[in-house]
Amino acid sequence: MTDSRIAAESWETLRARHSAKWRRYPADVIPMHVAEMDYPVAAPIRAALGELVASSDMGYLGPMPEIAPAFTAFAESRWGWTPDTSNARLAPDVGVATVEFLRAHNVSRVIVTSPVYAGFWHWLEELGIDIVDVPLTSDFRLDISGIEREFANGVGHLLLCNPHNPLGRVFGRDELLALAEAADRHNAVVIADEIHAPLTYPGSDFVPYLSLGPAAERTGVLVTSTSKSWNLAGLKAAFILGHGDRGTELLKPLPEAMHWRSSILGAFSMSVAYRDGVEWLDSTLDTLAVARDHLASELKRLLPSAHLEMVPEAGYLAWVDVSGLNLGDRPWDRILEEARVSVVPGTELGPQYTQHIRINFATSPELITRALTQIAAL
Ligand SMILES: Cc1ncc(COP(=O)(O)O)c(C=O)c1O
Repeated sequence: MTDSRIAAESWETLRARHSAKWRRYPADVIPMHVAEMDYPVAAPIRAALGELVASSDMGYLGPMPEIAPAFTAFAESRWGWTPDTSNARLAPDVGVATVEFLRAHNVSRVIVTSPVYAGFWHWLEELGIDIVDVPLTSDFRLDISGIEREFANGVGHLLLCNPHNPLGRVFGRDELLALAEAADRHNAVVIADEIHAPLTYPGSDFVPYLSLGPAAERTGVLVTSTSKSWNLAGLKAAFILGHGDRGTELLKPLPEAMHWRSSILGAFSMSVAYRDGVEWLDSTLDTLAVARDHLASELKRLLPSAHLEMVPEAGYLAWVDVSGLNLGDRPWDRILEEARVSVVPGTELGPQYTQHIRINFATSPELITRALTQIAAL
C-alpha cells in the first residue's frame, strides 16, 4: 500500500538541520549537492531510535541478529532473491566496507565505470590504488568488452554501482550476467555497491548481482546499507556479504574491528528500515517520482539548452549536461556563487565531465523550480 503523504519539510525546518547538506554552504544557498533527502525519516525508525535514546541504550554494537531476517524478507519480496547472509559483516558505512575489503586483499588496481559516484574515486585514491576507468557506453551500458580487456590485463577488481549514481540507471540482467561471466573467466572480483537499489522506481527491475547464479556467486560481494534509501547516512551502519564458501573466503581477511566501529543506532535502524520501513519507502518513491518528473519538465521549460542525460530509473540524482548554458570552465562555480545553488561538479565523477553537474532532486517541486529559475537567470 502506498500513499503520497511524504513531503519535503519546510525551508526553515531544513535550514535548522545539522547535516552536511545544510551546513556546508551559506544559509541562502539551495543545497542540491550531497545525497540526502529533504523528507522526514520513516516514523518506525524515529520511534526505534527514540526508544534506544530514552533507555540510554547506546553502547558498542553487539550481535545484531535482527538484520539478516529483515534484509532477507525485504530482498525476497522486493527482488525475488534470497541472499545468503551467513557471512554478512557489519561496517560503519559502504565506504568503509569497500575500503577495508580492498585493503585486506592488497588490491593495487580497480576498474570503475565513469561517470560514477565521487566516493569511488576518493576511496581508491585514499588506498593508493590505480584507477582503471572503463566509461559507460554512449547509451549508458556497461562496456563489457572494455572491462574484459582490463580483466585480461590483470586488473582483478571492479567497483559496480548499481543502480548507477549519477545516472540513475538500473543495469539489465543481460549486461550484469555478461559482467559476471567476464569476471569469472578471469577470476576477478566484482564489488557490487547496491546502496540505491530500494529506490528503484516502479517500471524498472533491479537485479541483485549475487542473484545471477554461479558466475556471480564466484565473483561477487555485495556492499549496501539503508543509509541512502531511508536517509540515515549519519547513523553509520552498512554491511558486506558474499555467497557460500567463496563468500566466506572473500570476507575472511576483513578486520573484526569493522563491526565494533559501526554504530548500534545505525545497525538497529537498518533492521527496522527493512522490516517496518517499506510503506514509507513506497510513499517516498511516489514523492520522488513526482520530483523527478518535475525536474525533467522544468529543465525543459527553464533551461532548454541544458540536457538531462537520462530520466533516472532509480534514486534521486540527475546527471545534466550544461555545456549549452555557456557558463565557462567550471559551471558549478558560477551556479554556486551567482545562482546560489550547490551541485556536484561533473569532474568529481570522472575528470572528463567538465560540463556536467549532478543535481539532487529529493526535495519539493517548489524548491526545484526556485533553483532552476536562479540558474536560468545567470
Ligand atoms: C553509490 C554510493 N555508494 C555509497 C555511498 C555512500 O554510502 P555510505 O555513506 O554508506 O558510505 C553513496 C552516497 O551517496 C553512493 O551514492
